[in-house]
Amino acid sequence: MVSADVSVIGLGRIGLPLALLFADRGLAVVGVDKDPERLAALRAGVLPFEEEGMQQVLDRVRETDRLELSDVVADAAAARDVVLTLGTPSFSHIEIDMRDIRSVLDALLPVLRADHGLVLRSTIAPGTTEFVAGYLAKHRGFTVGEDLFVAHVPERIAAGRFLEEIDSLPCIVGGLGEASGERAEALFSTFRAPVVRTSPVQAELAKIWSNIVRYTQFALPNLLMMDCDQYEANVFEVIDLINRGYPRGGIAAPGFTAGTCLRKDFAFSEERSNAPGMLLAVSRVNESVPNFLVRGMKRRLAGGLNGHKVAVLGLAFKADTDDERDSLSHKLVRLLERELADVAIHDPIVATPTQELQDALAGARAVVVATNHSAYARPETLRAIAELAGEDCLVVDPWNAFGGGQVFGYATELALLQPR
Ligand SMILES: NC(=O)c1ccc[n+]([C@@H]2O[C@H](COP(=O)([O-])OP(=O)(O)OC[C@H]3O[C@@H](n4cnc5c(N)ncnc54)[C@H](O)[C@@H]3O)[C@@H](O)[C@H]2O)c1
Repeated sequence: MVSADVSVIGLGRIGLPLALLFADRGLAVVGVDKDPERLAALRAGVLPFEEEGMQQVLDRVRETDRLELSDVVADAAAARDVVLTLGTPSFSHIEIDMRDIRSVLDALLPVLRADHGLVLRSTIAPGTTEFVAGYLAKHRGFTVGEDLFVAHVPERIAAGRFLEEIDSLPCIVGGLGEASGERAEALFSTFRAPVVRTSPVQAELAKIWSNIVRYTQFALPNLLMMDCDQYEANVFEVIDLINRGYPRGGIAAPGFTAGTCLRKDFAFSEERSNAPGMLLAVSRVNESVPNFLVRGMKRRLAGGLNGHKVAVLGLAFKADTDDERDSLSHKLVRLLERELADVAIHDPIVATPTQELQDALAGARAVVVATNHSAYARPETLRAIAELAGEDCLVVDPWNAFGGGQVFGYATELALLQPR
């Protein structure tokens, strides 16, 4: 029996804001997750991660009876539409890992009914929506597009911007057949963003290539940064020369490029690529940056890193988020530890406990800005480094967070450049 409008299976960073906002906009929602701690936190009114404005949405929704929580996938069948927002990592074999999707599909199979709509919101490899439809047809005899409706509606919203972008970023709807597209469009018309209808495979390609473009765009300045070091050139000056007054595109700035989406989504294209290796090379460039910084530090600190204190600022994968999944900061820390450096870590936002900034900086021989949190990009941080770390403390700032215009600079020298 249909007793809810929509179910959302997988209440993670993508699924939870979606479930909460469906409920906030008046839909009766069933939220399903296998993680009992997550469900307990939500029942207690605690948002398990940071997302701008979402705590207030949770508070409002808890005042209503529009969100029911469950750890049983089959309970999702109480709703007319079922949205899957499960994780889709990639295997190291350069292939999508669909185990969560497969296991949820198997749990749904016995309870799916004619007229159910199934939406894949997770990021998926090209061809996955067709596979899912085929799987349901094969095991339950549905004719997808006639008595069961299947669509891919990819999530392209950036972390921290859910409330802003859910109503503005064009919502791509790739329905299997006209009726599936109509059904998914009706569901996502709960929000104000324009809907763009297409085929499932085009929706899949559009999503992963949105991320591939960004991943590649950031690999180029990262490669340039490493090339500049080879030629003893200044990457920030070269970037300025490229971009200044040039009317035909430009280049981004270097930094740590990873995170749970960028680091793996290219693999979904690479698994059946027409240019095998091209995107792998892009990945290798981005993945080389921590090692490039460690080598640069070793060269500049006489005697290497063994026994020297190195302060790593930032564990999150990008600025001003608490999400540290697949962050290159962790790789940097591991590489430094393998050099027998004494690593101190500070991050003002993530849930992982880290040291106070002052403690992390005290007596450091080198400080690396691993995440360009806006809290770091202030003259006080640089002055604190100059005061608390050794006089000749090496400041490694691939983001140019301090505006000193040097990937490898020295604290005293950079602090002098700062306005008082
Ligand atoms: N995080 C982002 O910024 C972002 C952006 C765009 C797209 N995506 C895509 O969205 C999808 C979800 O990403 P996420 O970051 O929300 O992942 P996540 O790991 O935060 O959330 C997945 C949730 O699914 C739950 N889950 C897993 N297996 C389950 C099962 N069998 N039954 C019930 N619940 C189950 C987990 O407990 C978890 O809470 C991925 O495909 C990702 O690539 C993520």
